[in-house]
Amino acid sequence: MNTIFSGIQPSGTITLGNYLGAMRHFVDLQEENQCYFCIVDQHAITVPQDRLKLRKNIRSLAALYLAVGIDPKKSTLFIQSEVPAHAQMGWIMQCVSYIGELERMTQFKDKSAGKEGVSSALLTYPPLMAADILLYNTDIVPVGEDQKQHLELTRNLAERFNSQHNDIFTIPEIQTPKVGARIMSLADPTKKMSKSDENVKSYISMLDDEKQIEKKIKSAVTDSEGEVRFDKEEKPAISNLLSIFSLVTDQSIEQLETTYKNQGYGTFKQELATAVIDKIRPIQTRYNELIESPELDDILDQGAEQAHRVANKTLKKAERAMGLGRKRK
Ligand code: TYM
Repeated sequence: MNTIFSGIQPSGTITLGNYLGAMRHFVDLQEENQCYFCIVDQHAITVPQDRLKLRKNIRSLAALYLAVGIDPKKSTLFIQSEVPAHAQMGWIMQCVSYIGELERMTQFKDKSAGKEGVSSALLTYPPLMAADILLYNTDIVPVGEDQKQHLELTRNLAERFNSQHNDIFTIPEIQTPKVGARIMSLADPTKKMSKSDENVKSYISMLDDEKQIEKKIKSAVTDSEGEVRFDKEEKPAISNLLSIFSLVTDQSIEQLETTYKNQGYGTFKQELATAVIDKIRPIQTRYNELIESPELDDILDQGAEQAHRVANKTLKKAERAMGLGRKRK
């Protein structure tokens, strides 16, 4: 049995990209592993957030985790800011990070480019992410491809701490899916689908209604060739839609290419929309039952308690290894 940790930011409504690249794998992993799934709200405030919207997004993400199939009897589901060890360990991780390596992070470069008043936390975001993972003695971190660089940094920080102070951290492995690790924007297939994209047509939200989903898929950019064929280089937009289709229906890309060979993009898009709606509908039904329920609060309270117990043990070890506080018997 391995320990699994992953987190999602409540910085907008979860997209189909988050679901296909990360969340759906969490559900399988919880069967045979010790899993921790986190709503990383402290990461979300590295860029300005509206207070009320953030609150809403935190609760909404918690309900979605459960609606896709996270079972609180098997996994620990909790909110990052409700377990103080994350911020405390985040500080320790900052102390072992170099400014240069943080400045090299692609996400930092993308999010800070051309902006004034960039928060220092945007730079120190990866040490907090390392803290999230290392607190639980995590073996495996299931994420989409965009998190690879952060995971490599986490491994480096853990190894550095272990060799400079004491050998206390497990070195985690990344796990990315073979297909779906990078679902692209519907408006621009050279960009990843992102919940913080200003163009709402570029992503499908897990809470979009049927009409919105249909509209967004119909208006997704394609190419002028008119042939449904997988070719990431020449046909990135259609290849992205084929990947989504394959993932939501469990049909292979080849099968789909054969089915839609001479059909043109109209039929293909219409049937893709139906397949996406069929996948999302039961998740939304469950979501609606959970979102206002007291059950959701109970699950999050228990999750925070469980997470706190494990995280605090690792935190204490790290503090001792660095010489913080007083010697205890
Ligand atoms: P976040 O909130 O941006 O995304 C959550 C998860 O969804 C994956 N993902 C995608 N996968 C496929 N295609 C896409 N277009 C796509 N967009 C997002 C992400 O890779 C991620 O797995 N830094 C993290 C949150 C985090 C975390 C952690 C993750 C904080 N601490 C510890 C793992 C472990 C983030 O911003 O993810």
